[in-house]
Amino acid sequence: MRIEVVTLFPEMIEAVMRHGVTGRAVTRGLLTVSTENPRAHTSDVHQTVDDRPYGGGPGMVMKPEPLYAAIAAAAARLPAGSRRIALTPQGRVLNQALLQELQQLPGLVLVAGRYEGIDERVIESAIDMEISIGDYVLSGGELPALVVIDALARRLPGALGDARSNVEESFNEGLLDWPHYTRPEEFMGRRVPAVLLSGDHAAIARWRREQALERTRERRPDLLKFGGS
Ligand code: ADE
Repeated sequence: MRIEVVTLFPEMIEAVMRHGVTGRAVTRGLLTVSTENPRAHTSDVHQTVDDRPYGGGPGMVMKPEPLYAAIAAAAARLPAGSRRIALTPQGRVLNQALLQELQQLPGLVLVAGRYEGIDERVIESAIDMEISIGDYVLSGGELPALVVIDALARRLPGALGDARSNVEESFNEGLLDWPHYTRPEEFMGRRVPAVLLSGDHAAIARWRREQALERTRERRPDLLKFGGS
């Protein structure tokens, strides 16, 4: 999968790409991530990327011309069938079902806005979809873009250290995770549940499934109502 991030802060993206599961997906060649800076598409001496909002009000708006040019440059490097996605609080809320859809695509341009937002005409003319990572407002789209990249990277076959992690998670898709334990057997007076020490793999699988169901019922009953993700 190929991802291009359009951002005024490429270092934010590059730093995260060096670590953990995402870093491994990149070094294994499962994922490529590049950036395109709208500032490189300005022609004035101040390299202006924002301007005051028509109609007044606080804050600034990302100017259309450099942003549009940056999106076009990024999209031109991607295969046909790729999508251009803006990270905004107005978008479709990210979940596993949406990640599953994105994973089918050959490439993504992720557009990270700054300031109060981006000129609506860029959304209309150069964006296929808006994605939100939740009902709260961040100060830019870089962290949301990184959330999308991380969640996609760990789903790519071969990205996780242990291939079973993915199989077990997809088996469990739509439910919250079960509790995890490692050594020592007793910590702060609390013992690891005996079934996990029993060596009985069927009993362990049953216990984990029950725990996942029980936690989902208690904490996120909304996830059970529509048959999962
Ligand atoms: N930009 C600012 N807040 C955001 C959010 N919650 N999701 C996606 N992009 C954003």
